[in-house]
Amino acid sequence: MKSAFIDSRVEKYLYGLLPARDLVVAEMEAYAERRDVPIVGAAVGRLLALLVMVSGARRIFEMGSAIGYSTLWLARAAGPRAEVFYTDGDPANAARARKYFQRAGVERRIRVQTGDAIALLKKTPGKFDLIFNDVDKHQYPAVFRAALPRLRRGGLLVADNTLWSGRVARKANDAATRGIQEFNRLIYSSRELYPVIVPLRDGVAVCRKR
Ligand SMILES: C[S@@+](CC[C@H](N)C(=O)[O-])C[C@H]1O[C@@H](n2cnc3c(N)ncnc32)[C@H](O)[C@@H]1O
Repeated sequence: MKSAFIDSRVEKYLYGLLPARDLVVAEMEAYAERRDVPIVGAAVGRLLALLVMVSGARRIFEMGSAIGYSTLWLARAAGPRAEVFYTDGDPANAARARKYFQRAGVERRIRVQTGDAIALLKKTPGKFDLIFNDVDKHQYPAVFRAALPRLRRGGLLVADNTLWSGRVARKANDAATRGIQEFNRLIYSSRELYPVIVPLRDGVAVCRKR
């Protein structure tokens, strides 16, 4: 959950400022820590919630949801009339996520889908106010191509790990780093998007569709 490039004292300070989480979120964080599930963590969770609040997003598609941690931050911020799509390739993750959503009282606003997130996005009709991308990193360019037409004008494309522990700044031979480098190039060269990479934790790209 920690950054590889933020000064560790600054990071400790930043996380020390965060208010305590409720029982369900705290339990998800403890489970993720114990089982090495790579969740966004509370600092980025709050950024996702803030983006939902300021944009008024109600119809949200998440790609790569794991145990539903980031889904819960999005769904709570979007409110009871929201429709949030959870997607993950692992049915065991989905089963665990469902239980957390029930306990948090948000299950009616979340549609849980298992399978490939890109295929599921293509299959789900309609436009979205916000698409959050956290799938395997080599797939980021494919996500860019699939997500852009599915965002409404003024909608947000948000992606985690866009600084990839700083590896994006070096010459890369691996598919994950190359995928993120290409994604970052695509968002900044798109005429349809206005992107900013926020160097919080592992780098969060926030792009508004014009
Ligand atoms: C980094 S974790 C997601 C963490 C989650 N967003 C959070 O912060 O709570 C990535 C998840 O995406 C799933 N995944 C990766 N590529 C996928 C794909 N193409 N379709 C569906 N799920 C995918 C993995 O199974 C894994 O659970």
